[in-house]
Amino acid sequence: MPNKYPVTNSSSIKPGEMRCFDVNQQRIIVAHIEGEFFAFDEMCSHEDYPLLNGALRSDHVECPLHGSRFCLRTGKPMEEPATEAIKVYPVELQDDMIVIEIND
Ligand code: FES
Repeated sequence: MPNKYPVTNSSSIKPGEMRCFDVNQQRIIVAHIEGEFFAFDEMCSHEDYPLLNGALRSDHVECPLHGSRFCLRTGKPMEEPATEAIKVYPVELQDDMIVIEIND
């Protein structure tokens, strides 16, 4: 059953920035790319390394440890060494609030 969790005000994450939040006992990164917000798990699927220090480009994030890039729309890796997807979450704006949908 999906639940919606308000996370933060949209103006608190500037374009090109990521911030990590505790949401429903999970660590979830919210990224702001060119007016669009994306939510995804904090850790890389390859070796459990935080993606927060990675690079945001277009609609993907690049892991800082071994360089795999993940599509933030699907979570799928775009190249090895990662082979498993990261979890991504639907995001909506309610007024100015970023709301993440999580299947509990
Ligand atoms: S830990 Fe992310 S690609 Fe290896």
